[in-house]
Amino acid sequence: MVFTRKMTKQEKLIVEEIIRFVEDKHNRSEGHDYSNILEVCRNSIEIARKIRDPVDPFILICGALLHDIGRINAPSGLFHGIDGASRTEEFMESLIDDIKTIRKISKIVVRHTATSMIPPQSPEEKVVFDADALDRLGYMGMMRGIMGKTGTMEHIIENRIAKRMADYHKLYYKESRKLGKTLHKETLDIVTMLRKGLAKRAKQIHEIENYKLILEE
Ligand SMILES: [Fe+2]
Ligand SMILES: [Fe+2]
Repeated sequence: MVFTRKMTKQEKLIVEEIIRFVEDKHNRSEGHDYSNILEVCRNSIEIARKIRDPVDPFILICGALLHDIGRINAPSGLFHGIDGASRTEEFMESLIDDIKTIRKISKIVVRHTATSMIPPQSPEEKVVFDADALDRLGYMGMMRGIMGKTGTMEHIIENRIAKRMADYHKLYYKESRKLGKTLHKETLDIVTMLRKGLAKRAKQIHEIENYKLILEE
């Protein structure tokens, strides 16, 4: 389905305001930088154009732009959907009066991430959820997921592998899966490569331990 309607001139101006706000905040954050926001917007538009569900362009674009605003100055990110929704509502209230529309946008922010534990329901919510998941796939997505993580290399890699493998299968729309097919294949290749690397290191550690035993004899 193509978008249900065209955005009004006024809405376009509001979107420009949001872009300025989001760019300023995300430019300084690592991992979830402005490029992620742009990719999620681009993916959202692409998915929305392909699916049958009706999608409102203004609600979708605002939600996609603001989806990770809760990540700014929030190192763990565990509440970034819920906190981001409060930030979104506060910010949007300064731009528009329509509370219903604001709520629809803030729900996209809450439900785009599994950390909020509330699954997406409206088409706009599902589209942004899928668009964000698509940006975590492939080489770049894997890199982004590793940035800023702490812990042992093995733990980080295993944790990323488990999450990325699940992402593709959690996509709501078959159209999203089609869009992400190549990226998913790329993810599988990286997983094979990383698993080989981890196994090699484990073997080397084992060999060194044996070597230690020889020295102790
Ligand atoms: Fe997020
Ligand atoms: Fe994101």
